[in-house]
Formats: sequence, structure tokens, C-alpha cells
Amino acid sequence: MHFKRSDFPNGFQFAAATSSYQIEGHSFGGAGTTHWDTFAATPGNVVRAEDGAVACDHYHRWEEDLDLMQAMGLDAYRFSTSWARVLPEGRGTPNADGLDFYDRLVDGLLARGLNPMVTLYHWELPVPLADLGGWRNPDIAHWFADFTTVVMERIGDRVFSAAPVNEPWCVGWLSHFMGHQAPGLRDIRATAHAMHHVLTAHGRSVQAMRALGVKNIGAVCNFEYAHPVDDTPEAAAAARLYDGYYNRFFMGGLFKGAYPEDVMEGLGPHMPKGWEDDFALIGQPLDWVGLNYYTCKRIAPTDGPWPAHEEVPGPLPKTQMGWEIYPDGLHHFLTWVHETYTRGLPLYVTENGMANPDTLDVPDQARIDYLDAHLAAARQAIADGVPLAGYTFWSLMDNYEWALGYEKRFGLIHVDFETLKRTPKASYHALAKALAS
Ligand code: FCB
Repeated sequence: MHFKRSDFPNGFQFAAATSSYQIEGHSFGGAGTTHWDTFAATPGNVVRAEDGAVACDHYHRWEEDLDLMQAMGLDAYRFSTSWARVLPEGRGTPNADGLDFYDRLVDGLLARGLNPMVTLYHWELPVPLADLGGWRNPDIAHWFADFTTVVMERIGDRVFSAAPVNEPWCVGWLSHFMGHQAPGLRDIRATAHAMHHVLTAHGRSVQAMRALGVKNIGAVCNFEYAHPVDDTPEAAAAARLYDGYYNRFFMGGLFKGAYPEDVMEGLGPHMPKGWEDDFALIGQPLDWVGLNYYTCKRIAPTDGPWPAHEEVPGPLPKTQMGWEIYPDGLHHFLTWVHETYTRGLPLYVTENGMANPDTLDVPDQARIDYLDAHLAAARQAIADGVPLAGYTFWSLMDNYEWALGYEKRFGLIHVDFETLKRTPKASYHALAKALAS
């Protein structure tokens, strides 16, 4: 690694991230069934129909995992709380074991000098709520606020930071328009509703946390840089629209009290009734914004229905996901979000990393180079005036990569999914050395 701690501002938080369904093991501890369990059980949705029943068994091995983070010299840990573990029915009576688990986790982090950064929802919707329409149902904002209250009454006094929803774009577009994630819908009306309700749910969750006195509340969105496939005006317009529903829609809702006009040309006719009146709720003041960033896309126009474009392969070196490696995109989004929307709020990189077909005997130099290049882009953004306050590596350890099952390895720590043995990779050691310098 070509960086030292002293290259970053005082108090800068280096962190690793995971999420509940991807690591905990949802067959343990009284967790309810989630829409990921049923999505995975449906043929054709997930590689080898793998699910999160055991995952990394973090539910039982969390102390070892926290020790590994402490030994690496991290400052913070970004984790999520499972709605289905805390409220197996989605509403109603909490599962005491579930709340106890997150309570112990937070205390375990603090005892090791690690700051708890919590995200309330990282995609494991309880099936009783999916049965009621899930993110298509406007009532989800209230259900989510109630879940927020249950969790935060327990741990809200000790967390370093809190965010309601991980990646609204994935909850809305990827899961309801592209159908790549649970609930696997491909329907424009479902998409428009989910994209709006994920923001009203965000707003009600923030209100619930403010009412409890929770401090340092933010939002975590994902961003992808859209390159036009060529220099025609049609390609430019196609890339612009991709940027609209991916990057500008949620930022617009959160910070400008409006959705982008080009996106509303397609989604407008399908929006839920009264959506125009929800921006006061959506735009709750925030203390920080988190950016998840991995890659860029090449967008080509098509003559199909709106949005009338498609992704085509690009020329840059790719990760195991087939994602192009494009660190300039991280610099772009940090400066653009700061200058266009957040104007001085602290920003965090809340996820960045790469998948590699790692084996234990091959050093993961590609991951070291990937992180080095993206950390350099972040440093450049800081030099350009962006108030970047932290950087989070995805992921602490190999885990359940959603529809791609256990095949795509994003971890700084290797997990043998037969024995569940953890082994730090070369990237873990390289980061530990840099963080100690
Ligand atoms: C992000 C998700 C995370 C993980 C990475 C690779 O979109 O937040 O859970 O799947 O991608």
C-alpha cells in the first residue's frame, strides 16, 4: 500500500463493512424467514440456489471476527441489523435473542476500541412484510420506523453512526426493475413505488432515531459512473439517463426536494399517489452521507421501451464480478456529491473493494492494487476540498454475495465455507501495516 495513516486527516475512520444476511447465518437465533430465503429457493435466481442459512456463522463466531478487526488496526466496523432477526414477523413481538446479539456486538466493538457504524436495513425483508407487498406498500415507512425504534432503543446510545437503508438504488431499481435481487420483480410500477417508499421509509426512520436522541445519522447510497458507449448524442443521452435513476434520483430526493426530470419522464406515470407531498419527510436533515463505489458502466442506446438503453462491456481491467476498475469514478462522485448536494457535510466511503477468485496460496495483489488506487482517488478528493471523514473496505471477509452465492470473494479475510475457518489475506496484512504506520 502506498499510503500512511498520516496522509489522512486526524480522526479519519478506517473501517471494514459486512451485512447481516451475508455473514450471520439466518437459521440461527430465532431469525424469521426473509425474502432472500424464498428468492434463493426459487430456481434460476441464485448461483447453485445458495442462501444465507449458515453464511459465515458470524452469529456464533462474532468474537473471533471482532478480534481480527482489532488486530488489523481498524477504527470502526460497519455492520447491519437484520429486520427478520429482530422482528421475525416484521412487526410485533421482538426476538429477544436477536436484540441481545446486536447488544453484545456493540459492546464487543466498544471493548476493542472499534466504533460501531450501524445500518438498519441491508435487504433482509421479513416474509410477512413481503406478503403485504414489501417496498411497494406505502405502510412500509411506518413498519420500518417501528423496527428502527426497537433496534435503537437497545443500541442507539452506543453507536458511532447510524443509517437507515443500504443502497436505495438496489432496493428499488435492481430488485424491482431488473429483477436481479429479492423480490425479483421486473415491473416499472413496482419500481416507481419502491424507489419512492425507500425514501419515505428513510425519512421516518431518521425521525424515529432523532426522537430517541440518536446522534450522527446519515444515508448510504451507491454510485456508478456512466460512460456513453460512443460520442453520439444518443449515447450521451442514454448515459445521462442511467446516471439519473442511479445517481441523481436519491440525492435529488434527499437534498433537493425533487426527482430529476429526465427520470420522471419514465417513472412519473407510475408513481404512488401524492408522492409530490413527501419531500419534507424525505429531506430530514442529515449529519453525513456515505458513498458505496465499485465501478463504471458503458451505456448504449436501444430502440426498446424507456429507458431504451443497455450496458455493454468496456475496455478496462475487470474484477471477478466483471466490473471495470475505474478509480477516477470515486474521485468524481466524492467531489460531485459534495459540490452539488451535501456542501460541507462529512462524507464517508461506506463500501469499496473487489472480488477476486482468491485461494489461500495466491497473494491477492490485485485487491491491494485496487484499494491502493481508490484510496489515492480519495486522497485527491480530500486535497480538492472534500470533507471525507472515513473509508470502509468491502468486505471484512468473504461472504454471501447475493444472487452470485458464495463464489465471489470480496473479503480481506478468506473464509473456507466448508470449515468456516478465517484466514487473513495479503490485503489484510498490507492494510494492517499501512494503518500502523
Ligand atoms: C454492494 C452491497 C454489498 C455487496 C457489494 C459487493 O452493492 O451493498 O452487500 O454485495 O455490493
